[in-house]
Formats: sequence, C-alpha cells, structure tokens
Amino acid sequence: MDKRIFVTQPSLPPLSEFVASLQKIWDSKVLTNGGEFHQELEKALCQYLGVKYISLFNNGTIALLTALQALNIKGEVITTPYSFVATTHSLLWNGLTPVFVDIDPETLNLDPRKIEAAITDKTTAIMPVHCYGRPCDVERIGQIAKQNGLKVIYDAAHAFGVQVGGESLLNFGDLSALSFHATKVFNTFEGGAIISNTPEMKQRIDHLKNFGFTDEVTVVEAGINGKMSEVNAALGLLQLSRIDQNLKDRLEIATRYRSGLSDVKGIRIPTLDEGVVGNDSYFPIFVENDFYLDRDALYERLKAQNIYSRRYFYPLISDFPMYKDLPSASKANLSVAANAASQVLCLPIYPGLTTAEQDRVINAILPQ
Ligand SMILES: Cc1ncc(COP(=O)(O)O)c(C=O)c1O
Repeated sequence: MDKRIFVTQPSLPPLSEFVASLQKIWDSKVLTNGGEFHQELEKALCQYLGVKYISLFNNGTIALLTALQALNIKGEVITTPYSFVATTHSLLWNGLTPVFVDIDPETLNLDPRKIEAAITDKTTAIMPVHCYGRPCDVERIGQIAKQNGLKVIYDAAHAFGVQVGGESLLNFGDLSALSFHATKVFNTFEGGAIISNTPEMKQRIDHLKNFGFTDEVTVVEAGINGKMSEVNAALGLLQLSRIDQNLKDRLEIATRYRSGLSDVKGIRIPTLDEGVVGNDSYFPIFVENDFYLDRDALYERLKAQNIYSRRYFYPLISDFPMYKDLPSASKANLSVAANAASQVLCLPIYPGLTTAEQDRVINAILPQ
C-alpha cells in the first residue's frame, strides 16, 4: 500500500536549533509570563505581518474569547456557519447569541449583502472569518459596522501573512484573532494572537490574558490564563525564519493542483481576487453535480488510496446540537453555506509534499 498522505503536516525547524533555544530557557529559568522569547516574537511578528500591536496567546480559541471580552461584546453577534466550530463556541462561552448569516458563494465568507437584514437592537458585533485565508469583504463589512455602531472581530485563524492591496488583512476590523495551531501555516505547536490597533487596547488584552493583573497586587478584570510559554515563543521565532520559504512551497503546490485539476469537469477551484496575496493555507475544491462522483464518494475513493483529504467545513456549525435550534440556523437561511459544505474537499497541501505524492492525489481525482 502507498504511504499515507494527510491533508496537512506541520513544518518544523531542525531539532538542533530548537534544542539551542531550549538550553537558553533552561539557563534562564524563565518559562513563561512574558519572557525574552515572548517579547522577541511579538516584535518580530509585528514587523513581519505589518501590524501595530500583537498579543500572543496559548491558542486561537482563548484569543477569540479574550477579544470578545476586551470589547465588552454583549447580546447578539452576527457570524458565519461555514467555519471551524471554535468561532461560534467563543460566542457561547461569552454568553452571547450567535446569529448565522449565509456566505458568499465565491469568497465563502459572510455575505455582506445579507448582514444588514440580520441586525436587531440586540446586535453589538460581527464576527466574520477569513475562511481558508481568503479575505472577507473588509471594506463593506467596515461600512456596515460603522453605520450600525457595531464592533468587528475577525476570526483570522487562517489568515497569517495575507495581504490586500499591499496591506496586512489583519489591520481591518477592531481586532483580529490568529491561531498558531500545529495545522496552521505558522505554528508554535499550540498558540494564537490578537492583533489590535492602539497601545491602550493591547494593554487591556495583555491584562485580560494574565488573570486581569496589572501589577503584583492589583487585579482590574476577571481575566483568564491565555499566556504563551517561552517554549512556544522560542519555536515561533525559528518558524518565522522559514516562513517565506514555506509560503513559496505552498504556492508552488497550489499552482500545480490548479494546472492539474482546473479543466476537470465538475471540479470548481476558487480563485483569489486581484491584489490579494494569499497564503495557500488550504486547497479547497468543490465537487459539483457534473463530476462523475459525489463529494463523499470522492473522499472515500481518496481514502482507499491512503490519501486523507478533509471535508472542511462539514457539517456546518449551525447543524451542531448546541446551535441547530437557533432561528438563524435554518437550512433556508443558509442555503449557500449548506451547498458549499456538501461539495467541499480540502486536498493535502504542506511544504514537503512531494510532486510524486501530489501526482498521486491528482491522479486519484481524475476520471478513470
Ligand atoms: C477558523 C478557526 N477559528 C478558530 C480556531 C481555533 O484555533 P486554536 O486551535 O488555536 O484554538 C481554528 C483552528 O483550530 C480555526 O480554524
């Protein structure tokens, strides 16, 4: 049987480099609480990403939870059903009511044309997702938020390094939350971050992620423990030194998939708008009705050949038991998202996927 190919595989630096960083941590005995590696990684990421302020976190979910706390979000929040479940769980954990709005069939992100109809007097925020690192319509969402006095918190878990018109996508909205989970383009094993725009907001977030402490004896908020450890931060610095090469490798793989699959009847591959620098964090294809197999049959066919694609994002978040009874979770309200969830398949993409392995994936998809 051929070697197994998974949808992703984490990038790692040479172990010897990481051991040298670990030695420094062992020598300093500073393991967490904003040590040297943590400070250095925050600086390096601000510079690399082109953002003003970043607060590192122990994972993307705690970053999302904290972002909502930092902005005092209450009541209802408009969001997408087509995402990883952590997006909406972060609302529920804050006692907020998610209001699902359908997605745009091209961008696969919240459809700005449908947001306004979902706004009520209880709405306080919008939480869109830059799904697969593909930018939301940030201009239109910004206008709607401004006109209606709403905050915008982007779930930017997939959007590391993405740019629109030469600017970081992370600079849009009030806050953006990133994930540095092992499966992401940039990983620190586990990790995450919040991007903010003012020193005051960064400080508030930094207090919130450290139990609300402002000094040894003062607690000003009911904060949480969202701190990133020195081990994760040290790894992050090594990962950052390789990120450009990794992104190049991903682009090459994505380009090869496009040339191998774009003429296949019934396979739709979404494209990026002009002026967008993507990160090829995922390679979604949509298996349409005129393909010779349905999506699940293709998924099984790949699996039988030891190729593990993933149905991201299926089922929709709105179909999970804790959300399915919300009025906005109805199928009629979310028909575009439901269609995407029934057709999507994310193909293996990661630096280190060989051309021979990629050919196996392409050949397994082509009509036999
Ligand atoms: C869209 C989205 N939001 C949130 C998260 C949660 O991030 P984490 O796993 O770092 O908690 C993830 C990924 O895991 C994600 O894909």
